[in-house]
Amino acid sequence: MIDGPLVTLSYAQSLDGCITAKRGRPTPLSGPESSEATHLIRSHHEGVLIGVKTLISDDPRLNVRLVQGPHPRPVILDSNLNSPLDCRLWAENNHPLILCGKSAPDEKSKEFQGKGVEIRRLETDTHGRPLLSEILREVKDSGIDSVMVEGGGEVISSFITEGLWDRAAITVTPCWMSGYKPEPIIPRPIQLCHVTWIPLGGDVMCVGERMS
Ligand SMILES: NC(=O)c1ccc[n+]([C@@H]2O[C@H](COP(=O)([O-])OP(=O)(O)OC[C@H]3O[C@@H](n4cnc5c(N)ncnc54)[C@H](OP(=O)(O)O)[C@@H]3O)[C@@H](O)[C@H]2O)c1
Repeated sequence: MIDGPLVTLSYAQSLDGCITAKRGRPTPLSGPESSEATHLIRSHHEGVLIGVKTLISDDPRLNVRLVQGPHPRPVILDSNLNSPLDCRLWAENNHPLILCGKSAPDEKSKEFQGKGVEIRRLETDTHGRPLLSEILREVKDSGIDSVMVEGGGEVISSFITEGLWDRAAITVTPCWMSGYKPEPIIPRPIQLCHVTWIPLGGDVMCVGERMS
């Protein structure tokens, strides 16, 4: 058992489970009501976590702007410090944190620090990526007690595959896309419990908890 933060998985998907039409490019999926609900959920978390590929493709701001509420602290999983130096995220000044591997280049790390980005180096797995258990420990040690994991596909898949999540808030939008979807490896179907389906304009949000 990891002494980590509370983890909420949150993303938007099509009827056929896709999170974007083409990997590496954002596809706007959520309508105004579900976007607002996502910001509301964000405002109730102390951290918001994404993978470096989402940072590169979407250039997200990860702040709370559609409702009133505090901004969560952004956390980026980026093993080799491939994050661009000119992201909109750094300009938000919400004390972003990059979690990278021990051998990530020193030079780039200094450039990020100059932009107010905190860098933490973690033990890596055989693929050179920080271990999820270490990531969650580090997030908690950084004072973040609740984190919203917002994507993309690889990051969502890792959390589901390793069973390291507590709640999910998934927006389903009424279209088919035949695009890119998370593909967790799980030995058997995972059922959410305490489920609520919330209609939000043309979308519906499925909110539930992991069965213990
Ligand atoms: N619909 C939605 O709600 C939504 C939300 C977010 C993103 N998206 C879309 O998703 C796409 C990006 O997803 P993606 O799957 O390509 O990339 P991603 O999940 O955003 O980032 C994956 C990268 O994160 C790094 N990483 C570090 N530690 C990891 C770990 N333990 N597990 C997994 N990844 C780890 C890896 O790069 P390194 O090895 O270099 O560290 C990995 O390649 C974009 O097209 C974006 O538009 C959609």
